[in-house]
Parts: sequence; C-alpha cells; structure tokens
Amino acid sequence: MKWNPAKYVQFASHRDRPFFELTQRIDIEAPRKVVDLGCGPGPLTAALAERWPDAQVTGLDASAEMIEKAATEHLRPNLAFAETDATTWTPEPGTDVLVSNAMLQWIPGHRELMAGWLDALEPGAWFAAQVPGNFGAPSHALMRELAGRPHWKARLEGLALRKDATAEPETYLRLLLDHGFDADVWETTYSQILRGQDPVLEWVRGTGLRPILSVLGEQDAREFEDEYAELVREAYPPFTGSEGEQLTVFPFRRIFMVGRKGPTG
Ligand SMILES: C[S@@+](CC[C@H](N)C(=O)[O-])C[C@H]1O[C@@H](n2cnc3c(N)ncnc32)[C@H](O)[C@@H]1O
Repeated sequence: MKWNPAKYVQFASHRDRPFFELTQRIDIEAPRKVVDLGCGPGPLTAALAERWPDAQVTGLDASAEMIEKAATEHLRPNLAFAETDATTWTPEPGTDVLVSNAMLQWIPGHRELMAGWLDALEPGAWFAAQVPGNFGAPSHALMRELAGRPHWKARLEGLALRKDATAEPETYLRLLLDHGFDADVWETTYSQILRGQDPVLEWVRGTGLRPILSVLGEQDAREFEDEYAELVREAYPPFTGSEGEQLTVFPFRRIFMVGRKGPTG
C-alpha cells in the first residue's frame, strides 16, 4: 500500500495542530537524539529540528515516497531522514525524545511494540504519541458497512478494516505507567470545518480509505468512492457558510500520550 505525500498534505493545517499540541508537552531543553517515527513528508520533523537546534533529529518512515519528499524538501544540518519499518526498529542509546504522530494506528499490535520502545528508552527520556480515536465514527463505520455489503465483500475478501485500530486512552496510560513513566494522556475532539465538494471523502482518500482503494481496480475504486460519498454526505451534511461557500463539519477525535521515564523505570 503506497502513501501519496501530495494527498496527505492536502489538509495540513488540521493535521498539524495535534502534532504541536502533543509536542509542546515535551518538557526537555537540550535533548541529544530526537526521533520522529512515521515522520511522513517531513515538515513536522523539521519543526522539531528547529526547536532543538543542538539535537540530532531523525525522521523515520516506512514509505520511500515520504522519505524522498522529506529529505528533498527539509534540509537542516541537524536533521536526517531514513526509510525504516517501525515494526523492526528500536531506539538507540542516547535517544532522549521519541515522537510518533498519527502512525501507530497503522500497526496492528502496536501496544506490544510500544512496550519494547518504552523498555529501551533510558531514564529521563520522553515518549510522545498521538493516534486517531475515531474508528467508531460514521466516516469509518460507513466504510466498513459498505465494504461488508455482498457486492463489495467478494472483491475485498481478506481485507481487515479494524474498529479497534487504536485503544482507549486508559489503556495507553496504563502502558506508560507500567513502564515507569510519569504519564499525561488526554483526548480532544476537533470540530473540523472542511470546505468544498465531498470533503470527507477527500480526507479519507488520503488515510482510512487507502487500504480499500489499493486493492480495487480503477473502475471499482471509483464506484466504491461514489457509493461511500453518498453515505457520508448524509452523515456529515454540508451547509452554506456566511460567505456562500459549502462547509462540512467533520468531528475528529484524537488521543494523546506523553510521558517521561522515571529514574527507576
Ligand atoms: C498519517 S501519516 C503521519 C505522518 C506524520 N507523522 C504527520 O503527523 O504528518 C502516517 C505515516 O506513518 C507511516 N507508517 C505507517 N506504517 C509504518 C511503519 N510500520 N513504519 C514506519 N512508518 C510507518 C506512513 O508511511 C505515513 O507516512
């Protein structure tokens, strides 16, 4: 399944805000090594390099396309990018900050992986991650419902569209506490205002819908999108804003976790 960097940056302002709300809670002045795991196209990793100019900041991502875009567009002396699969990665000694924004939901069993990272981090190190908490929202429920209809089920055989791609906040809180971290876990639902025609479809095209579209041929993919767009239009009805433009409210729940490893963790 390929990531499309251009599609992903389309809603950058909505997607960037949680990253900054997450990382502002990391309270360290001069970290040595900082890792952004699942860094995507790079601008947010570059913001970390700017914040900590004396740190060696590394953005890691499993997508060659994302890494190519990041490494081409974000050049700084203390910043590097590398293609790496998080499922086989472990933090190097001296890693003082590990950030992962909007990646863990793509990894089944990510809590076991997280446990390994939390074990490997040294006392005083920070872990900060954000995951969507919206797999039960109409945007995803309708996707699963449509994919389960007989016409599509046959074409999407074996595709797992998980309702439990992420856990509830308490689960992450326990995980951090159990590994000796002082933890702060919270959730925010952003009432996002999207503009234009079928903006919810546009949004999920870059994320949640990708597993479905990547296994369908071009014609089937278009048909699936058309049927899905009709369902989400009802779930997220557009309305006319004060300047005559078409607006849609797309609520988006996100779960945040930040922790610092204690001296005996
Ligand atoms: C939703 S994007 C988030 C990008 C960036 N962190 C941001 O906040 O804009 C998810 C990223 O996770 C990456 N990803 C997914 N599975 C991964 C894995 N197993 N290892 C490393 N990166 C992965 C994808 O390639 C993609 O760039």
